[in-house]
Amino acid sequence: MPLHTPICDLFGIEHPVLLAPMAGVSGGALAAAVSRAGGLGLIGGGYGDADWLAREFDAAGDTRIGVGFITWSLARQPQLLDLVLDRAPAALMLSFGDFQPFLSKIWDAETKLVVQVQTLGQAREAVDTGVDAIVAQGTEAGGHGGTRATLPFVPAVVDIAKDIPVIAAGGIADGRGLAAALALGASGVLCGTGFFASDESLASDNAKQAILHGSGDNTERSSVFDIARGLDWPSDWNLRTMRNDFTHQWSENIGGLKQNLAEEQARFEAARNVDDTGIAPVIVGEAADLVRAIEPAQDALRRMIAQAEVHLRRISRLVEPNSKG
Ligand SMILES: Cc1cc2nc3c(=O)[nH]c(=O)nc-3n(C[C@H](O)[C@H](O)[C@H](O)COP(=O)(O)O)c2cc1C
Repeated sequence: MPLHTPICDLFGIEHPVLLAPMAGVSGGALAAAVSRAGGLGLIGGGYGDADWLAREFDAAGDTRIGVGFITWSLARQPQLLDLVLDRAPAALMLSFGDFQPFLSKIWDAETKLVVQVQTLGQAREAVDTGVDAIVAQGTEAGGHGGTRATLPFVPAVVDIAKDIPVIAAGGIADGRGLAAALALGASGVLCGTGFFASDESLASDNAKQAILHGSGDNTERSSVFDIARGLDWPSDWNLRTMRNDFTHQWSENIGGLKQNLAEEQARFEAARNVDDTGIAPVIVGEAADLVRAIEPAQDALRRMIAQAEVHLRRISRLVEPNSKG
């Protein structure tokens, strides 16, 4: 029996794996590759650029994909919602902010609404609203996130979610993580870091090399890159990246960074322009340990499913009577 969970039926997909809508990384080609391999790819709407979104939806062609937005940023450009709903996405994911103002449009368009949460308070609001699925994101995640760890947070969200499917995120990049998420009561997983180095990802070559040689030991959450990028992120969330010269210099000295902002922003921009990952961020999570090849996204997805099935069978044998383990 292939692995089949309620989110397979909800989204009409074969495997319970979603590509995270990674800003600047999850474009149309990556989203379509994950969807064609049986999961559901979400384009990263990020901070909102209408031309970019149109181009990336076009790049996905006829393949069914979804899209995700950073909610507080979408609130500043709400017209982008109409633009993507015209493309009939398979799912629309909102993270980081008040999703209530967008509900009616999304449901009127008969699109599935997925809300990513980092606290039980946010999860309760999503449950009370009756969203179609909840992503419970642990702090291990790459990109923006909160402080709760995936292992205790996911089952706590499952306990309050009633019959709304919960999708686990944060630190999951192989079949062992998928099997563990299912054991925690999740209906599937949403993965970012695990697809970051895919052939189809829009991450730069140097960033892909950095994750291959990097480790979860060497990531941290901070706000230094948001300050350098001039993004006024609410203080509830900060950004997990690999450590580099910029984090070493400023993450313990935010006041100093703000005092030298113009100079540091110029240095940061110059580094970004030449893809210097000593200063520019490599936005990945603790699952960096598990990413060891630049390969087609479908290979990573198929391996994840096959490995999860092996581990779930092995685990179920542990509880069978007369089993040799
Ligand atoms: C490079 C990168 C960019 C991300 N950008 C976004 C984003 O724009 N919107 C969003 O909701 N989540 C974003 N995330 C977080 C993901 O939605 C997801 O929670 C996370 O990737 C899951 O943890 P993992 O990285 O361990 O797989 C990003 C993650 C990464 C790694």
